[in-house]
Amino acid sequence: ALLLVGSSLLAGGAAAASANTSTARKARVPGFLWGSAGAAYQIEGGNYASDLWVMEHTKPSIFKDPSGDAADAYHRVNEDIALAASLGFNTHRFSIEWSRIEPERGQISGAAIAYYRRVLETIRGHGLTAFVTFNHFTAPRWFAAAGGFETREGIEPFVRYCRLIAERLGDLIDIAATFNEPNLGALVSWSPAIRPLRPHILAARELARASIGAAHWSPPMLGDFRIQQPIMVEAHDRAYEAIKGASGSRFPVGVTLALNDERGDPDAVQLKQAQVWKPWLDAQGDFVGVQNYTYSVVEGDSDLPPPAGVELTQMGYPFAPESLEGVIRAVARLSKRPIYVTENGVATEDDSRRIAFIDRAVAGVAACVDDGIDIRGYIHWSLLDNWEWVSGFGPKFGLVSVDRSSFVRTPKPSAHHLGRIARAELPAR
Ligand code: NOJ
Repeated sequence: ALLLVGSSLLAGGAAAASANTSTARKARVPGFLWGSAGAAYQIEGGNYASDLWVMEHTKPSIFKDPSGDAADAYHRVNEDIALAASLGFNTHRFSIEWSRIEPERGQISGAAIAYYRRVLETIRGHGLTAFVTFNHFTAPRWFAAAGGFETREGIEPFVRYCRLIAERLGDLIDIAATFNEPNLGALVSWSPAIRPLRPHILAARELARASIGAAHWSPPMLGDFRIQQPIMVEAHDRAYEAIKGASGSRFPVGVTLALNDERGDPDAVQLKQAQVWKPWLDAQGDFVGVQNYTYSVVEGDSDLPPPAGVELTQMGYPFAPESLEGVIRAVARLSKRPIYVTENGVATEDDSRRIAFIDRAVAGVAACVDDGIDIRGYIHWSLLDNWEWVSGFGPKFGLVSVDRSSFVRTPKPSAHHLGRIARAELPAR
């Protein structure tokens, strides 16, 4: 696979994509990954054994909608993978739901392992690279009841789960992340928009704790990152070793991080990055997974509210596809590791804005490659419209829409657009 840089393709989007005859310099990135991502809890539906399911169903809930059947991907995963392949992608990122694998402590579901094995076989069968996230925000109820990642006791069960997955499924995994965005709690602690909601969030968490039977537990992002983050860093380091050991180091293992393009006062930016980026850029890993959606402007020890008059996405933050380039350059300054863009996207009902977003974001990636930065993939969030955590089903991140009652999938123009870019960049399959 080649990423052609400096070509009219990356600057010009769809029109240029169909006429892939660049005369400009071409920097070549063998094996560059093009694809889209999803996470188990947001698409599968019916993850009853998960801690979040309890939290969603404890009233009053902070979630706009319950996840319910989500996008029913549990039953439609083959169709989804086939669709991703047909668009022209060469990778598929998904997560394994720990609460399906180990619904009770120490009780492993053979059926769940077999299920994810079939998912991986389908991915391979379509010639795609399997990018697997071991933990994407959710955990089994029993794990939460024991304190989750708010206690060092949480490290061992997580490492055991990671080792098991590497042993049983590692032969079909091509690249893996231990945690998805374990730094999100630290990132949102800077956001002024979250502060007024904090008492409400903490009250809901207390109720969920009581109903789950936990003395202390918070799902990532709703707890105190000062407690959780060092424990998760240690869990990641130990899981990294366990996965490497159990898989004979067959595939790269890293972590994916929530990274805003940090703008504003340089001292404030440095302080924020020391808290939000550094602990993870210093942790073990074979690559850095960059996940970027927007920028923030920092002052003192807080982000400023978005500037007046800027276009906001359905998530309420600025539409800023150029942020990706800024983040990649900043990560490359702070870390020598290869970079994969493991998430990038925009919540919008207006698919033409998604296309514009993709073009600018991908042009930023190309400029980084052109400058010699070791970047190896662009994975868009998300393949499907899905359950966006506390925001429910409102925000539309998908390249593909999902009918909320029939679950019928319909690719949007942006799906074909990104697919055309990928196809033009990849050798014929
Ligand atoms: C990051 C998270 O990994 C994913 O779960 C979420 O849906 C997207 N960002 C969009 O907010």
